[in-house]
Amino acid sequence: MKYLITGGAGFIGSNFIHYLFDKYPEIEIINLDKLTYAGNLDNLKKFSAESGSASGGENYRYKFVKGDIADAELVNKLVRQVDVVVNFAAESHVDRSILDPAVFIKTNVLGTQVLLEAAHKNGKKRFHHVSTDEVYGSISLDSDEKWTEESPYQPRSLYSASKAASDHLVRAYFHTFGLPVTISNCANNLGPYMYPEKFISLAITNLLEGKKVPVYGEGKQVREWLHVEDHYVAIDLILEKGKVGETYFVGPPDEDRPNNLETIKKLLKIMNLPEDRIEFVKDRPGHDVKYAMNTSKIRKELGFTPKYSLDETLKKTVEWYQTNIEWWQKIKGSPEYKNYYDQQYAKR
Ligand code: NAD
Ligand code: DAU
Repeated sequence: MKYLITGGAGFIGSNFIHYLFDKYPEIEIINLDKLTYAGNLDNLKKFSAESGSASGGENYRYKFVKGDIADAELVNKLVRQVDVVVNFAAESHVDRSILDPAVFIKTNVLGTQVLLEAAHKNGKKRFHHVSTDEVYGSISLDSDEKWTEESPYQPRSLYSASKAASDHLVRAYFHTFGLPVTISNCANNLGPYMYPEKFISLAITNLLEGKKVPVYGEGKQVREWLHVEDHYVAIDLILEKGKVGETYFVGPPDEDRPNNLETIKKLLKIMNLPEDRIEFVKDRPGHDVKYAMNTSKIRKELGFTPKYSLDETLKKTVEWYQTNIEWWQKIKGSPEYKNYYDQQYAKR
């Protein structure tokens, strides 16, 4: 089996590549990644040509291609060579979509269409699209509503609007051309290689640096936190057993749903730090209040059970950042990161 993984140098894509090679040593992978600020080849050192790993040398089963999913010529050339396309590539951070929306449309919408067209034109390749729960909008705090895969799309941020558009395109290629697609809409991931701009990776690394954690508004928003391992295992299962044309929700076990402030308090407890390390800052514009998914479809139809509780997920993630200090210090020390951090937090 030969895979084209897009965005494989990012957080979730790189974890997926590690998992696939561990589980299926005979597969081949082409990783197409533009190496934006979020793409990081340090996440894939094990597979680099210089590492002399099992996948190095002449019979190279891993190939990295630096390029843009919106580049139709390149994408056509690569899609032709594979059996399956898994699309992780995206601009993924909501706060950046407020600062610079255009690139979200180019990558998330146009890029996805270019990939779909290539999959369609090159023999209807199996296509899995990695998406987000955010396309379903925002639930009020006093409501017990949980979205299902049939709920209407109501995106409210530039990021989620672009991801919603990409999901619609995926569905349209299925209905119009019979392209064998599946979509997963997943909750907030945590785990290794998460770029330190997202709430929890920013919080852990700030705390390890002796800084405070910026909590937007009063910290009352609710997210569903899932260990990245539970996400990539679910994607693999959907590729194996999922029904084409279908969408599957992926979320954590049904238990702990603290708000952002309570989540940071849990984190501080795990790290043995006092609550005065919290700093309330100006809220995110259009901040979605709550996400909640009913994940019974993937459980019943594909037999998927997420493995990690929230406490385990937080502990494992803290441990990873404590033992991989070089990885995140290199990012946080870069001019790109410092510019972003100043722009995003200096005046809050
Ligand atoms: P990330 O920002 O860490 O990585 C994105 C990767 O895509 C980077 O390696 C980047 O270089 C690459 N990329 C960006 N634009 C590209 C382009 N035009 N062409 C080729 N490569 C490009 O993102 P992530 O957190 O790993 O998210 C992966 C996917 O999962 C995204 O589609 C995101 O919407 C979705 N998702 C993320 C989460 C989460 O909590 N992080 C949750 C649900 C869904
Ligand atoms: O729900 C899935 C989505 O989760 C993914 O599709 C996105 O790619 C991913 O970025 C994530 O989006 P969120 O906006 O939920 O994640 P973020 O980590 O940016 O924020 C989580 C919550 O924490 C949110 O309510 C905003 C808040 N927050 C965030 C940051 C960065 C803060 O309070 N302070 C912060 O500094």
